[in-house]
Amino acid sequence: MISATPSVFDASLSQSDGEGIDAYVERHAPGVGYSYYGAGKVALRDGLDGLVEPGGNVLVPAYLSPAVVEPFRELGLEPRFYALEPSLDPDFADLESRLDEDTVAVTSVNYFGFPQPGLERLADLTDEYGCYHVDDNAHGPISVADGRLLGTHGDLGITTLRKLLPVPDGAVLYRASDEVEAAFEPSSLAGRADRFGADDCRYLATSVAETALDPLYRSIESFLDDDDVSSVDPIARYEAAKAPMSKLSAAVTDAADPDAIRAARRENFRAWGRVLADRDDLAPLYEELPTGISPYEYPVLADDSSSFLADLEDAGVAGAHGWPILRESVRGDDAYETANRYAESVVALPVHQGIEPSAIETVGERLRGRR
Ligand SMILES: Cc1ncc(COP(=O)(O)O)c(C=O)c1O
Repeated sequence: MISATPSVFDASLSQSDGEGIDAYVERHAPGVGYSYYGAGKVALRDGLDGLVEPGGNVLVPAYLSPAVVEPFRELGLEPRFYALEPSLDPDFADLESRLDEDTVAVTSVNYFGFPQPGLERLADLTDEYGCYHVDDNAHGPISVADGRLLGTHGDLGITTLRKLLPVPDGAVLYRASDEVEAAFEPSSLAGRADRFGADDCRYLATSVAETALDPLYRSIESFLDDDDVSSVDPIARYEAAKAPMSKLSAAVTDAADPDAIRAARRENFRAWGRVLADRDDLAPLYEELPTGISPYEYPVLADDSSSFLADLEDAGVAGAHGWPILRESVRGDDAYETANRYAESVVALPVHQGIEPSAIETVGERLRGRR
């Protein structure tokens, strides 16, 4: 069974000689200040806190999980959703129509670990309007584009370690510009816990159950993740995320071997590409896998996402899912055509380092057998 996330008990995930995330960040984003947090949303709040006043607004792409805008709301900022092209470039006409003198920041999102198309034009625009560029890299903690770690391409950025490693929580705040670095004052939620807590134990216990009973358990990520379609109220999600990074996450982060993990994810991404290449009811969201990218998942646009998900489950893939549930103000609004269409038809397939490419080939054979 192919699960959504790697297991903490998978020995291949971390090596005694793994460089860990710190050294990888310092290698690919030299000189950038960074801090660990329990969640990307809280990191985002702390990163912006010293820079903005209540009453401003922040532009975010409409194709997004609902809780991601809660830190802006906590800071007294109005989140405004901008439309996307089918390529996932911002619809710049729509974006500019929503910008005004109270706009304090524009967020880009590196979907599925790939840089959001149009990043350079967006950076030009934030320069022109004198607002901050937030590089939301929740999905791609170790992706590198144009020689720089994703998440560090704006003034400030975040990444979510839970989307890379078998950890109960964990995120990084990047302070890429001098102004952001100078204004930064960490709250009590910054940093890493120095003791193991109840959540660490709960995570380990669930991991044991998942490993022992594999096919019956969908994923521990399902009760941890904002992206889960059964997610409850976004404010409750945000409040629940307010804790420093756990000690268990810190230990796994320090032992990780990012180069090996990226290589494994790339191999699995390519395996899905081969396996699904002859399906004319599916279109991959990314045809190419540029050097440096560590994919979060392998997303495809499916003509009938529900029946494809059911076929995948029958073929042994428990970790595929649609993404995301949209915020209510975006759902069904014709102004956000791409976001609504993608939320309906994207199926994201797991590529994590706990999967052997041969398991993906086997799923491919089973899927072909059904057609
Ligand atoms: C694009 C994006 N940004 C930010 C976040 C929030 O990250 P975290 O769950 O670490 O707060 C998510 C959620 O998973 C996300 O999908």
